[in-house]
Amino acid sequence: MRTPIIAGNWKMNQNPEETTAFVNAVKDQLPASDKVEAVIAAPAVDLSALLASAKGSNLKTSAENAYFEDAGAFTGETSPKVLKEMGIDYTIIGHSERRQYFHETDEDINKKAKALFNNGITPIICCGETLEQREAGETNNWVSGQVKAALEGLSADQVSSLVIAYEPIWAIGTGKTASSEQAQEVCQVIRETVKGLYNEQTAENVRIQYGGSVKPANVKELMAKPDIDGGLVGGASLDPESFLALVNYQD
Ligand code: G3P
Repeated sequence: MRTPIIAGNWKMNQNPEETTAFVNAVKDQLPASDKVEAVIAAPAVDLSALLASAKGSNLKTSAENAYFEDAGAFTGETSPKVLKEMGIDYTIIGHSERRQYFHETDEDINKKAKALFNNGITPIICCGETLEQREAGETNNWVSGQVKAALEGLSADQVSSLVIAYEPIWAIGTGKTASSEQAQEVCQVIRETVKGLYNEQTAENVRIQYGGSVKPANVKELMAKPDIDGGLVGGASLDPESFLALVNYQD
């Protein structure tokens, strides 16, 4: 059985004080982590505050990006080794905003996945199509290609443990959610891609999130789909009440 995983991706929002206040407001009302894993992915500048305030609670922690080298002359980058030393559980890689604005390639994302595993951090690997690609009927091939490139050279055990987030770019921050059927269709393609690359068990184990205008009003319907194991949530994860409604969607 795959444990559902709902992760807030704060993007470039919140400061350390706001981070502490947020965690203090939610930490006693989170589900048990074997029921639903609740994760906050915060900007690098907020991670110390996130870790300190989440200590001893059910809240898991994530960075929003990391570099593929552990140390060296890479001004402005974040070391996966240091993230591990700090106690970070997850790191998002390959978000469409990083691909679009910071020109990250499939190859970079694959290197980042390997660097995270080398340091014992679980990657949340994002993929997703543009509106033009969807309208041209290219979604399934495109997403499947992104997944193959990101997983290149990873072991079945590694893939079993990681998280893939399907985020159609046209649904991010637009208020336009993919219908639960559209989201399910692509999440199923992702699971089949993993099965083709590895085996049935690995495909059964890997957790797949949907992201793109997830909110308390649609989370239940999305989570009811057989291949959707979680949500990667932007805007609706910034407010404590809304985050609590998302992670406690089963109640
Ligand atoms: O990573 C989460 C994301 O890109 C979706 O953002 O604001 O549409 O929930 P939002």
